[in-house]
Amino acid sequence: MTLAVEVAGLVKQYGRARVLDGIDMEIPSGTVMGLLGPNGAGKTTTVRIVTTLLRPTAGSVRVAGVDVLRDPAGARTRIGLSGQYAAVDANLSGFENLRMVARLYGMNHRQSARRATDLLSALGLDHAAGRRAGTYSGGMARRLDLAGALVARPAVVVLDEPTTGLDPRGRMDMWRVIGDLVDDGTTVLLTTQYLEEADLLADRITVIDHGRVIARGSADELKTSIGGDRLTVTLAAGQDPQQAMAVLAEVGIGEPTHDPDAHEVTIVVGDGSRTMVEALRRLDDAGVCVVDAGVHRPTLDDVFLSLTGAPADPAAAPENDDVAEEILS
Ligand SMILES: Nc1ncnc2c1ncn2[C@@H]1O[C@H](COP(=O)(O)OP(=O)(O)OP(=O)(O)O)[C@@H](O)[C@H]1O
Ligand SMILES: [Mg+2]
Repeated sequence: MTLAVEVAGLVKQYGRARVLDGIDMEIPSGTVMGLLGPNGAGKTTTVRIVTTLLRPTAGSVRVAGVDVLRDPAGARTRIGLSGQYAAVDANLSGFENLRMVARLYGMNHRQSARRATDLLSALGLDHAAGRRAGTYSGGMARRLDLAGALVARPAVVVLDEPTTGLDPRGRMDMWRVIGDLVDDGTTVLLTTQYLEEADLLADRITVIDHGRVIARGSADELKTSIGGDRLTVTLAAGQDPQQAMAVLAEVGIGEPTHDPDAHEVTIVVGDGSRTMVEALRRLDDAGVCVVDAGVHRPTLDDVFLSLTGAPADPAAAPENDDVAEEILS
């Protein structure tokens, strides 16, 4: 197994704040690594260090065998980075944008035009090739940005929240594109707030919180690691969640959780369906009115909740600012 990315003992300190506290991560060639974590966990910081945009306080990174700190220029030729905010020139057409990037990489006129055309087609943008990028939808602009990152055929593609802010259609288009990349043997490091996305795309997942790795494995391994089915009941309007939680605590394992927005109370249970019948009987006895109930296998959301004590919350993602600060020369 060759490793496309090797991150060892990565530390990043800002004054007294240690935002990365010893991150280790290995990505085998041709696989997708999902980097998951709540807001402020250190995902973007990790990605910036891996892509040479930021210098770590300690630790090492190798990309396709190249030491990122010793040879940032060499590492950069092996990496394609696509960030959350598309870096495309709104005044140029999609075709012109990509041809320009190809020219910057030293391709001649004809090679550049060819590469631009091929990528537009691969990313499903051929119909808009001649249109100003400023007229593209958010999803199309993101795909054009990704195409720009692919021009030089990098061994490793790094995607920081590739689908945040996209509608379901745009997200599905992007997932298809990322899937195609992987089929072609590209290694992908992907940060995401969407657990569904990591579940679907990532071969392996690294979960970080407060700058440390708190879990790693495939999506299935992570789900199995937290064990047990989940019983969720949806309360009728005006019902007291505390009372429902007290009843569920009697039939389940550990402390129930409450999602006030969805009027839902959830608890881990041993024998799912039998416990549900018992729980509904007891809720009825206690006079708690329930409009829905169900048992499900743990999702990655449950893993996240169980590991970090907080649900994944895409809506809370802050802006990624000061991108180019501390660029390595
Ligand atoms: N230049 C800086 N100076 C001081 N602290 C910083 C700086 N850049 C980032 N941080 C802090 O480092 C921590 C990790 O930030 P980072 O952007 O890596 O998190 P993230 O996991 O990408 O979060 P999000 O999901 O919100 O994008 C945060 O607490 C952030 O405030
Ligand atoms: Mg981030």
